Amino acid sequence: MDNLLLLARMARNYRSIPAGMRFSEQLLLISEILTLPRSKKGCIVECGCYLGGTTANLSLAAELTDRHVHVFDSFDGMPEDSTPEDAHIVGEGVGSESGWTTDDYVASRADFERYLHRYGCPQRVTIHEGPFDETLPEFSEECALGYVDADYRDANAIVLEELWPQLKEDCRIYTHGADFYPVSQLYFDRDWWQTTLDTSPPGLVGAGSGLGCIPSDGSKGWTSSFGYAVKEADGR
Ligand SMILES: C[S@@+](CC[C@H](N)C(=O)[O-])C[C@H]1O[C@@H](n2cnc3c(N)ncnc32)[C@H](O)[C@@H]1O
Repeated sequence: MDNLLLLARMARNYRSIPAGMRFSEQLLLISEILTLPRSKKGCIVECGCYLGGTTANLSLAAELTDRHVHVFDSFDGMPEDSTPEDAHIVGEGVGSESGWTTDDYVASRADFERYLHRYGCPQRVTIHEGPFDETLPEFSEECALGYVDADYRDANAIVLEELWPQLKEDCRIYTHGADFYPVSQLYFDRDWWQTTLDTSPPGLVGAGSGLGCIPSDGSKGWTSSFGYAVKEADGR
């Protein structure tokens, strides 16, 4: 499968599987996988897969690049947001309320697997079912790219706590909460990084209004919910 065929299959999958991500955001993630140096061993991790709209495309890229995808999800949808009230400080243009309810993104594992078998490469995917704080501590594989699409600060915190030590140097963890202030603030939170991972905060590229993947209809220009943190040398 060459890159053009991959693009065509991705576009078909995007039309066929309900997804939380926009197509341009999926393209950005996939291009990141395609350009990872082969010498940089490690799997791809998706935390929050819903019905697998993005997973199917990640698995196609994994097939092309000989990598494996690990997905983590409870399949229970969004939990209650336990972000403390005082973390909801709003910067201009930065969302403070996610707006999700517990009815959002409920999916069945059977539907996820059906989509993956029909549109992706299931042999490239391992599913870890359950809440992140139960499944991620059991996971010990080296990771070349992580992606958390569960939007709340708590979910990002548990993913960073468990996955950051396994992330290879110069590799990235993407988040789909870059335009949600309590999430983006976490990536700059000196106390949290020092206490939890004994390192300095990496910051978040795209914090505030996200990477420019989607044209906004207002005056903000190109935005998205997408951002990433890079693990630099000595980033533990
Ligand atoms: C926005 S959806 C993911 C969308 C998906 N990445 C896509 O592109 O279609 C969020 C997912 O995260 C899962 N989720 C949220 N918080 C979680 C947690 N603490 N543990 C496990 N799964 C969680 C939900 O069940 C839901 O499937």
